[in-house]
Amino acid sequence: MISNYCGDSPYTHSSAVFTSPHINCHGTVLLTGANGSLAIPAVSYFLSKYPTCTAVLTVRDTTERDPNTTGLRQTIAAVPNALVSIRQPDLASLSAVHTFAAEMHQDVIEGRLPRIVAIICTACSWCINGGLHCSKDGFERSMAVNHIGYLALTLRLLEDMDKVRANRFPV
Ligand SMILES: NC(=O)c1ccc[n+]([C@@H]2O[C@H](COP(=O)([O-])OP(=O)(O)OC[C@H]3O[C@@H](n4cnc5c(N)ncnc54)[C@H](OP(=O)(O)O)[C@@H]3O)[C@@H](O)[C@H]2O)c1
Repeated sequence: MISNYCGDSPYTHSSAVFTSPHINCHGTVLLTGANGSLAIPAVSYFLSKYPTCTAVLTVRDTTERDPNTTGLRQTIAAVPNALVSIRQPDLASLSAVHTFAAEMHQDVIEGRLPRIVAIICTACSWCINGGLHCSKDGFERSMAVNHIGYLALTLRLLEDMDKVRANRFPV
C-alpha cells in the first residue's frame, strides 16, 4: 500500500445514486487543487461522466480539519463506485513534487494505476500582499506553484502517459 493514500484503500467506493449519462474511457486523470472552488464541481462532473476513469486528486491537507477537503470527500461520496485516490503533494516544494511523481510512476508501472490520459492543473498560488513570499526552494511562491512545480510534475510524468489517448494538459 502506498503510504500517502488516504484511508485503508487507494480507492473510494461510494453508494449514492447518480443518473448522468456515462462516457466509456479508461486511464488515470490527475487533477491538482481538487478541493478548490473550481475543482470541486469539475470533480463531480468528471466522476459522474467518466466512471471508468481513475481519478488521482491532490490537496495539501487530506484531513477533516480542512473544510474544503471535507467538501471534496462529500462530492466523491455522492458518486457510486468512483475510482478515486486523494494524495498530498505541495507544489511549492520540488522535493514533494518529485516524491509524488515517483510514487505515481511506481503505481503505473506496477499496474495499480492505468496510464495517465490527462493532467488538469487547477491548484494555484497568488501572492499579492505582504511583500515577497518564497518557497523553501527559494523561488517566488506563485512562480514556484503555478509554473516550476507543474513543469517538474508534468515532465516527470510524461513517460507514464498513455501514448495513444493522452493529449491533454489543461493549466
Ligand atoms: N474561481 C474562478 O472564478 C476562476 C476563474 C478563472 C480562472 N480561475 C483560475 O482557476 C484556478 C483555480 O481557481 P480556484 O478559484 O478554484 O482557486 P482556489 O479555490 O483558491 O483553489 C486553489 C487550489 O490550489 C491549491 N494550492 C494552493 N497552493 C498549493 C500548493 N503549494 N500545492 C498544492 N496545491 C496548492 C489549494 O489547496 P489548499 O486548500 O491546500 O490551499 C486549492 O485546492 C486558478 O488558476 C485561477 O486563477 C479561477
